[in-house]
Amino acid sequence: MKIAVFGTGYVGLVTGVCFAEIGYNVTCFDIEETKIDTLSQGKCPIFEPGLEEMLRRNLANGRLSFTNDGKAACRNADYFFIAVGTPEKEDGSANLEYLEGAIAEIGNNLNKDAILVIKSTVPVGTNELVKDKLKAIIPRELRVCVVSNPEFLREGSGILDTFHADRIVIGADDQETGRAVARLYEPFDRPILQTDVRSAELIKYAANAFLATKISFINEIANLCEYMGADIGDVAKGIGMDHRIGSQFLNAGIGYGGSCFPKDTKALEKLTESCNYDFKILRSVIEVNSRQKQQLFYKAKELFGSLHGKRVAVLGLAFKPHTDDIREAPAMELIARLLDEQADISVYDPAASGKVSQVFGSRLYYAENADAAIKGADAVFIMTEWPEITEYDLARYRLLMRQPIIFDGRNCYDVAEAEAAGIAYVSVGRKAVNVQVSLKR
Ligand code: UDX
Repeated sequence: MKIAVFGTGYVGLVTGVCFAEIGYNVTCFDIEETKIDTLSQGKCPIFEPGLEEMLRRNLANGRLSFTNDGKAACRNADYFFIAVGTPEKEDGSANLEYLEGAIAEIGNNLNKDAILVIKSTVPVGTNELVKDKLKAIIPRELRVCVVSNPEFLREGSGILDTFHADRIVIGADDQETGRAVARLYEPFDRPILQTDVRSAELIKYAANAFLATKISFINEIANLCEYMGADIGDVAKGIGMDHRIGSQFLNAGIGYGGSCFPKDTKALEKLTESCNYDFKILRSVIEVNSRQKQQLFYKAKELFGSLHGKRVAVLGLAFKPHTDDIREAPAMELIARLLDEQADISVYDPAASGKVSQVFGSRLYYAENADAAIKGADAVFIMTEWPEITEYDLARYRLLMRQPIIFDGRNCYDVAEAEAAGIAYVSVGRKAVNVQVSLKR
């Protein structure tokens, strides 16, 4: 059984490596030469716990290889998995140029019947377009079936999510082809849901939009807590204990970021335009998220009046812990605003500082650790809940800052403890202590 995986981003790489791990022969293709070189040397270009080790093991046993030669990748492959990026276009819709490139590469190099599985998140109807495009390129005697198989893995826990997936969705209009892909997944021993192609395509967008809705909803409740004097920790716990609601994705904070939720919610909104449907909840989810990302900055601005020349430390830059990904990270938006204000900014992140320096260069001071970032600061913003940040001793703020003011976007500390420590502490959906601030309406 030979599998070719096109695209070695998070999804493609984790998929390829995990398929090799369970015993298939996998070739991963990417157009980026340097990436292929790095991977061929057993180095993982992305920060994903456990991935590099598994990658090396399977390179060594010969089940896994990397190439940027399309012909070599396609030779004798039985299954093609497409996991190329579908980034956001300026108008919010999904950019399918990488998908089109991969299809052309496969179509031009196909030498036997094959099954093409689309893992990339694509607008509903794309699988049908792919099928038509392929038909137009490949020799008439060959048969290619197109199957939708959306991916639900999270960055930072990609391997775990692959081996413990809640479900594997396989959308095929031809039952037999769907069953063939399902058999491929049997060794994972996870629940498999077979659907038609369009439903599978929509499941991916619907799942991400639902999770984003949960986050925006709890963020709105957090804002209400601030107006009404309630505590979001207790409220989220109280609603999450209802099994129909569930406790996950009820952490209020500074809005969702990353490479999926922002992009996919906007792409789905764009898709609804094509059928003239006004998806009101989704529009609000996006709007609420955008406002939520500004709340901490707004509170600081209100408190300080001007941030010009103020020494500000930003702790945590990645969009979430255990990744170096800064795409749509709330910290990036905050930094841009602080720079507009001409604040003097120091930043610290256990993994993402290198990527941030590619964007902001010498306009920021990149500290080696939290202590160095905080030292002498007028205000600290906590933007990512890395364990070393959530566990950072409150007493050190007192010790290192001129007059400690913390804007905590991840509710890392106990409000009463911060109050007792005499620290001006502003968090999300909880009362501010030793200071007074209000929300952006
Ligand atoms: C997400 C989906 O979880 C995954 O199924 C899909 O395949 C890709 O998109 P990912 O972007 O890796 O995965 O991260 P996730 O852990 O879901 O977090 C996304 C964002 O939501 C982060 O910015 C996180 O901080 C935020 N979030 C998450 C909250 O603000 N509150 C929560 O309760 C949960």
